[in-house]
Amino acid sequence: MLWCGGDDPINLEQPLVLHVLMRNLQTKNFDDVLVPEDHVSRSYNDTYYVDPQTVLRCHTSAHQAELLRNGYTHFLVTGDVYRRDSIDSTHYPVFHQMEGFRVFSPDEWEASGMDATSFSAADLKKCLEGLAQHLFGAVEMRWVDTYFPFTDPSFELEIYFKEKWLEVLGCGVTEQEILKRNGKPNNVAWAFGLGLERLAMVLFDIPDIRLFWSNDERFTSQFSKGQLGVKFKPFSKYPPCYKDISFWINESFTENNLCELVRGIAGDLVEEVQLIDNFTNKKGMTSHCYRIAYRSMERSLTDDEINDLQWKVRDQVQSKLNVELR
Ligand code: PHE
Repeated sequence: MLWCGGDDPINLEQPLVLHVLMRNLQTKNFDDVLVPEDHVSRSYNDTYYVDPQTVLRCHTSAHQAELLRNGYTHFLVTGDVYRRDSIDSTHYPVFHQMEGFRVFSPDEWEASGMDATSFSAADLKKCLEGLAQHLFGAVEMRWVDTYFPFTDPSFELEIYFKEKWLEVLGCGVTEQEILKRNGKPNNVAWAFGLGLERLAMVLFDIPDIRLFWSNDERFTSQFSKGQLGVKFKPFSKYPPCYKDISFWINESFTENNLCELVRGIAGDLVEEVQLIDNFTNKKGMTSHCYRIAYRSMERSLTDDEINDLQWKVRDQVQSKLNVELR
């Protein structure tokens, strides 16, 4: 239905594209996909909690188990996902994912002469390489081995974009325990999660993930439904303004909390928060200096406006993060 893996078109017998709700019980988001109790992704530092039992979905993998239980064996799920993260051109606290999932029955891998896991991994890679080829044509990409609690082996696909390797998807062979718990004990499966903004950045040459949230006509008028061959033509970029802030950190300090605070004050006017200096003195106190880049995609910012933002940042960094400004 969607693309070809090598020469074999995928036959999605039950093509299913779902838009699903963003509020998730922790059980779906984490327990159902075997995320250990002490895994970092469960922490308040990485995930937005609505209350102790409810989180904003942090990945579309949260829907794997229930769809399997409902009897689906080939599916795509799209949805918005939320993560506390750093601030730069490829990270934004909300983005979109598309989950793909495919279950195989024993006759499929037995016919190949491979063991189930190798068969599934090979099919997965072929399918995703086919997708990348279809979308991008010639592009430099590489597979990186990684870890996810719900797949083994697990991989990430990275694409060379703007002089850096950009992770565009995570995937792997589904843990047998997930199949066993959800009514498919004798099968094998693969799953992937695509970062849709990241793919679109590569496809359309979009340099900053914040642009997807822009209503500026100079941006929106460049794209129309179904047109894949377009390359973004940058309109005049307004100058950035850099402000540094230094403070002695405490044990509870985390960079994600700082980014959340800065984003709360400056919204989409903050382009990047970067650690530029880090040292520990003889007394064991650690100092961090962050450089904050303010820039609007749409207009020039005034000095007064930026100074005002920076004063608010200084104020709240001190009062809310409890650190000592230098
Ligand atoms: N859920 C993973 C993430 O968001 C991606 C993934 C999906 C990995 C499916 C493996 C299988 O990073």
